[in-house]
Amino acid sequence: MNFHYYLSIVTRQPFSVNREISNRTEEGLKAMRHLIDLNKFPIDQPGHIEYQSLVDRCRRDLDTLGNYSLDGFLKPSVCEAAVNEIAPVMARESFTHKRSHNIYFLDEVPGLDPDHPALKKVQTINHTLCADQIDGQIVMQVYEYEPLVRFIADTMNKNELFLMADPLARVNVLSYRSGEALNWHFDRSEFTVTLLLQSAEGGGAFEYRPNLRADDDPNYDGVARLLEGKDPGKRVLELKPGTLNVFRGKNTAHRLTCVEGSRDRIVAVLSYYEHAGKRFSKEELIGFFGRAE
Ligand SMILES: [Fe+2]
Repeated sequence: MNFHYYLSIVTRQPFSVNREISNRTEEGLKAMRHLIDLNKFPIDQPGHIEYQSLVDRCRRDLDTLGNYSLDGFLKPSVCEAAVNEIAPVMARESFTHKRSHNIYFLDEVPGLDPDHPALKKVQTINHTLCADQIDGQIVMQVYEYEPLVRFIADTMNKNELFLMADPLARVNVLSYRSGEALNWHFDRSEFTVTLLLQSAEGGGAFEYRPNLRADDDPNYDGVARLLEGKDPGKRVLELKPGTLNVFRGKNTAHRLTCVEGSRDRIVAVLSYYEHAGKRFSKEELIGFFGRAE
């Protein structure tokens, strides 16, 4: 079965299904059942009561917690297989993303004094693979799985979501080794979808501070308090390998604490947008991946 060919056809037109593709869809569904726990999470059954109750639960979690998790979305053996596919590519050709940055990932913030403590510099380091380096792998199959895109759109109350057009940024796999971390930041996109594939032996906690700012209130003093370690509103999100998490990170500051031990923390970031054709700028590509092509 040429499964990847099937996916490439389906995802070019995310939600229009013709007869030819329907036949392929059956094959695709069977294949995905081996990867995703569709009994626990019937994301392939829109219109069914179990589907709707799952969507309702996710919407409630988004409203109250700012995120939702599907624990055990990927089966344990699939996580292991995904890591085995990724590991040699990660060792051979990942980009070491190492930078000193502020919480905004910006050189300057208009209207904010450069010495303001909200602009305190923090360090981030990880090892990054782009979608073009893991073509056809399990992670890419999950990313392009049409029912997943439909399901996430439903949980986010959106008519439609699209795969990102950027051949590098659409999916990234990030590996954190001992001593490495993703420091405090706000996301640029409204929400982020992650799939944890392997946890570290220690450290690597996902910390977040819900609604630290709003679209109409940058709350610079509150940001400064968080960076000084004086914000009691900080929380920790428990994530296990195989968990799919959808996180609203635009106004919720978050970070991954320093990883400890010999096992790397490996997470896939899946990017979907409300509009087709979304790409990173050349500057963003260079900053995050060290290359623009
Ligand atoms: Fe983030």
